[in-house]
Amino acid sequence: MTIKVLADKKGPQISRYIYGQFAEHLGRCIYEGVWVGEDSDIPNDKGIRLDVVEALKEINVPVVRWPGGCFADEYHWKDGIGPKENRKTIVNTHWGGVVENNHFGTHEFFHLLDLLGADAYVNGNVGSGTVQEMQEWVEYMTFEGESPMANLRKENGDDKAWDLKFFGVGNESWGCGGNMRPEYYADLYRRYQTYVRDYTDKHVYKIACGPNIDDYNWMEQVMKIAAPFMDGISLHHYALASEWEDKRPATGFPEKEWFSLIDSAKKMEELITKHSTIMDKYDPEKRVGLIVDEWGSWLAVEKGTNPGFLYQQNTIRDAMVASLTLNIFHRHADRVKMANIAQMVNVLQAMLLTEGSKMIKTPTYHVFDLYKHHQDAELIETYGDANEYVDFTVSKKDNSLAVSLCNYGIEKEETVTFDVSDFSSSSVEGWIVSGSQMDAHNSFDSSEHVTKEAFTNHSIKDGILSVTIPPMSVATLVLKA
Ligand code: AHR
Repeated sequence: MTIKVLADKKGPQISRYIYGQFAEHLGRCIYEGVWVGEDSDIPNDKGIRLDVVEALKEINVPVVRWPGGCFADEYHWKDGIGPKENRKTIVNTHWGGVVENNHFGTHEFFHLLDLLGADAYVNGNVGSGTVQEMQEWVEYMTFEGESPMANLRKENGDDKAWDLKFFGVGNESWGCGGNMRPEYYADLYRRYQTYVRDYTDKHVYKIACGPNIDDYNWMEQVMKIAAPFMDGISLHHYALASEWEDKRPATGFPEKEWFSLIDSAKKMEELITKHSTIMDKYDPEKRVGLIVDEWGSWLAVEKGTNPGFLYQQNTIRDAMVASLTLNIFHRHADRVKMANIAQMVNVLQAMLLTEGSKMIKTPTYHVFDLYKHHQDAELIETYGDANEYVDFTVSKKDNSLAVSLCNYGIEKEETVTFDVSDFSSSSVEGWIVSGSQMDAHNSFDSSEHVTKEAFTNHSIKDGILSVTIPPMSVATLVLKA
């Protein structure tokens, strides 16, 4: 069946923030993955490793969420400022019980953002922090004039205040962030957010802690009590190949786990639909954004690594998870205003893996690369179903139409036809990421095994675009007017 592409019908904008990253003080994400310190032999800019920055710039990272995760509700920001030799060490109780030297703090985070050209999403501490601590952090980051916190920032080397685009008021407050009930959290949220002030004419977008997976009661209560005080509310859902307690291996898995992980990722569609219905009750204008600030595959850690570091390999199966999930976010672009894949480097479904001075790009990274054409584009409506194992998305921006599709079947290539006659194109260019087996991945010895390649198995005639996509593949085609 041919899929009709309604290229002239205006849809919602696919926010570029859907392509956000999450970087927590967890395992080797920040330390080693991002931060190596000024004295490292690994090329760095004021301690931030340059290979990682260069790779992330290529995929146009729009926003980074930091410092957690569960870590956020134990983080006391004042421990991470001032001369490095004076900074207090802390125990990362959630993640491996390791001692951190706090050399990566607020200034270093904003320096990373400068290097990436990305916006800030800082997650504040409600679980073990005070209102005053949160208020002072916002003042420290954003106030330009003379004030105790602005002066302290200046003493620490940054005269100019930073642009704090997004601020999260607590993380997983139903669990690691304080084990609260929704009614209690909603009241606390109202109180804490009062002191997340706009010190400039740029508004800080405030994000309330939303539900875990299908906890619809949490969404209901928090929206009922606190909706007028928030700009966004979070949702967390991880894709699992089995039960939560039984994390399955990232490589060498059986066929049934290819599909169980994919099915778990696809549940995102139902979750967003049902949570949005609840949000619609309290926010029919869709002013409040649904912020999926943790998503991705959660698999078993690699053998021999610290179980608290959540270091897992990343295969072409994860590329399917990324493609399917990004397509879902596009379909819900009217409500989903930001998403942050967990996590940026060396943790869970990472973009990049590092080992000493070596760095590799994962299949997921390449999907983000293929999909960057959709950032801030307009979602294009289509009708007609694709083949059984095919999922797709279409968007339009700057006189180009981008079609991304994945074939998550493991055996057959699929031919899909799109009626693009509403869009007169003069050229088509394509790229593909493919796996030769279910757990195809990159390693430090073979870093280009799964990579982005030119894709030419398509043709266009009389307004019909025909694409033949191999199994276990993700492709993007860009048609230029
Ligand atoms: O991303 C890893 C952890 O998963 C985060 O710290 C927490 O918020 C979630 O449970």
